[in-house]
Amino acid sequence: MWVLKDKLNLKRGVIYETIISTYSPDDTPNSAPIGIKYLGEGRVQARIYKGSQTLNNILSRRCAVANLTSDPILFYLTALKRGKHPPVEYSKSENVDAPRIREVDGHIELELVDSRQGSEYATLNFKVKAIYLAPGISRIYCRAPHALVEATIHATRIKMLLAKNRFREAERLIRLVNHYKDVIERVSPKTEYANAIREIEKKIGEWRKGRGLGQDPCKTTCMSNRYERGSWQSRRKSRSSHR
Ligand SMILES: Cc1cc2nc3c(=O)[nH]c(=O)nc-3n(C[C@H](O)[C@H](O)[C@H](O)COP(=O)(O)O)c2cc1C
Repeated sequence: MWVLKDKLNLKRGVIYETIISTYSPDDTPNSAPIGIKYLGEGRVQARIYKGSQTLNNILSRRCAVANLTSDPILFYLTALKRGKHPPVEYSKSENVDAPRIREVDGHIELELVDSRQGSEYATLNFKVKAIYLAPGISRIYCRAPHALVEATIHATRIKMLLAKNRFREAERLIRLVNHYKDVIERVSPKTEYANAIREIEKKIGEWRKGRGLGQDPCKTTCMSNRYERGSWQSRRKSRSSHR
């Protein structure tokens, strides 16, 4: 049972992860995870790599369905094509010539407005034709909140590791936090998640400074090697005392 919605609570500029379903030239359904960026006023944008079946299908039928789900297995199966056709069931859409996946939380029916070819991918702009949601569903999957939780977990460990002079372990986690920051800033700019990850970055900078380490992770690594051998200061002392 689907509820037809006139709008979704989407944030402009945020990329939501969906599974795009389309028909191939021989009418078989195809689906693949694709991020859609909300542009405002009922428009969304997708960047799709050249050579993908999804891109070819959209350019030929000028429409698609963005299936809404937070099931990681469905993302995995449709991305990596386990078996010839991923084990998903389809039904017909109401307003566009594209199939929709049955076992998901909702569908956004999309009509292609225009497309721009880049060297590696095409940028496609769509008009939202209709939105159907299962009752009780209000959120669309976005990587940012999950990235923020991961970064926060690492941040608590980083604080502890720096306090114990375990710099190399701390730096490995700091690199992961930086990766999550990149993800958040790309998929969810100007949001509470972007503010929070900047705060985490600032905190880590303060903790490092508190341990006498600079901002540059490379320099920190060299320093941490010396520290963690446990003998940098003491060897310097003992060398000078031998002179
Ligand atoms: C969560 C997720 C998001 C993805 N987003 C995109 C995307 O925005 N653009 C793209 O070209 N590929 C994206 N991919 C990769 C495609 O889904 C993948 O290359 C797929 O195999 C393409 O299948 P197709 O040839 O049937 O279109 C994404 C994969 C995952 C798991």
